[in-house]
Amino acid sequence: MVQFNKQTFRETRQKLWGEETFDLPLDYFPSLPSTNQKLWQLLNEGKPLPRVVIAGQQTAGKGQWGRQWQSSLGGLYLSLALSTQLPATNSHQLTLCSGWGIAQALRSKAVRVNLKWPNDLLLNQKKLGGILSETRIQNGHITQAVIGVGINWQNSVPETGINLQPRSQITSLESLAAVVAHGIIWGYQQYLAIGIEKILPSYLQMLSSKGRKVLVDGFPGTVVGVTAQGDLKIRLNSLGAGVEVLRSPGTISLSYR
Ligand code: BTN
Repeated sequence: MVQFNKQTFRETRQKLWGEETFDLPLDYFPSLPSTNQKLWQLLNEGKPLPRVVIAGQQTAGKGQWGRQWQSSLGGLYLSLALSTQLPATNSHQLTLCSGWGIAQALRSKAVRVNLKWPNDLLLNQKKLGGILSETRIQNGHITQAVIGVGINWQNSVPETGINLQPRSQITSLESLAAVVAHGIIWGYQQYLAIGIEKILPSYLQMLSSKGRKVLVDGFPGTVVGVTAQGDLKIRLNSLGAGVEVLRSPGTISLSYR
């Protein structure tokens, strides 16, 4: 049976946060349908936040846009729950700052991650991982958010994917989990402290999608950025230099190269 060393997770968190470290309850399961689903179940039972659920494998891992996330043994499958008071309209910003925070945390460990809009983690232009955030909305506000992250550690990956384990200073799945959890919470804290406008330039620097050629309703265009609301900004080539259109997550997909 696969084990998870919670002590290593705690020690890595301690090193990352230093004196600012705080308790982060973690539940580990050798196998689950989905860590996001399990975490919602625990929240419905009244378990306090923030907290983390990790699984050794998932039998019904959820990907973006209703896809399945292949979750064989050896990958990282982590969900982290946060309580928030953000307006419901800011849900894409939450995903954006999670991806940005995780990328920054991995880069601090010499993993040169880039971002593919809206929230894929890329290494050497291949998919290292993905993020699926889900929210509970009450009275127009996001009261609870579950940020689910899948990262290819030493699991088998398709042609478009890449594993982290053979090429990283990070030496264990537990340490990787601590780095990812740190990135999500730190990204969220930064978002609250300085706002999305100040995070965007740094997000854009890591955005591999910039300059990518795309078709918008049959018209050729070029990706020029991402808005504060998390929409993709595309300049249409054929309609004169100044015409830009926006596309929200899920309405247009980008290739890896
Ligand atoms: C994507 O499609 O790129 C996002 C994939 C997110 C997968 C993770 S694995 C942990 C968490 N639990 C899930 O069921 N999905 C997310």
